[in-house]
Amino acid sequence: MPLKIAIFISGRGSNLNAIIQAVADKRLDAKIQVVVSNDPEAQGLTIARQHGLKTFALSHKGMKRAEHEQAVLKHLEEYEIDFVVLAGYMRVLSSEFLRRFKDSRGFYKVINIHPSLLPAFPGTNGYEEAFNYGVKVSGVTVHLVDEQVDHGMIIAQEPFPRFNDDTLETFKARGLSVEHALYPAVLQQIAKEGIRFNERKKVETAK
Ligand code: GRF
Repeated sequence: MPLKIAIFISGRGSNLNAIIQAVADKRLDAKIQVVVSNDPEAQGLTIARQHGLKTFALSHKGMKRAEHEQAVLKHLEEYEIDFVVLAGYMRVLSSEFLRRFKDSRGFYKVINIHPSLLPAFPGTNGYEEAFNYGVKVSGVTVHLVDEQVDHGMIIAQEPFPRFNDDTLETFKARGLSVEHALYPAVLQQIAKEGIRFNERKKVETAK
């Protein structure tokens, strides 16, 4: 059974494109039910439409967060959705929204890709912040979404080097190509085996 997903975007849509390609190449057993955007002008919507995917675009501007989320949820009722896949979605989802996707184990079936090795460099400018900090190694994180920003359980992380002659552009391009391989691979793992993560534990350290 393919994993039925809704992909949420706000912009360029290069991760969306990587997922579409992985499905087309049969590297990913998933069905993209709908592509959702909070920006009707998002480039990614054009990519989605070019591939014949259904789209739902609703600007959040002038709407309360709850109102916007309710409208999105209402639209999603038209589809069977196993997982919400955030791919550059620039809105924080409230716990009311997330609760709709609660699994029997208590986590939310909402996943995100973040351009740093979390918990380093959360927030909207992961690549810029890691680069400006002067890291020698950075990476990409795929994690479950919870009520806190860039905080949920980590499903996968993939490191990549920062070379001395990197510019922000070459650094970002290296990271993005890691994202484009990692996200479809993680989704395929979920399609086959479900969700796997290492529980967070507080281990007492010897004094
Ligand atoms: C990616 O860098 C992703 O990690 C971050 O937002 C960016 C989205 O890029 N969450 P794109 O729209 O998939 O090209």
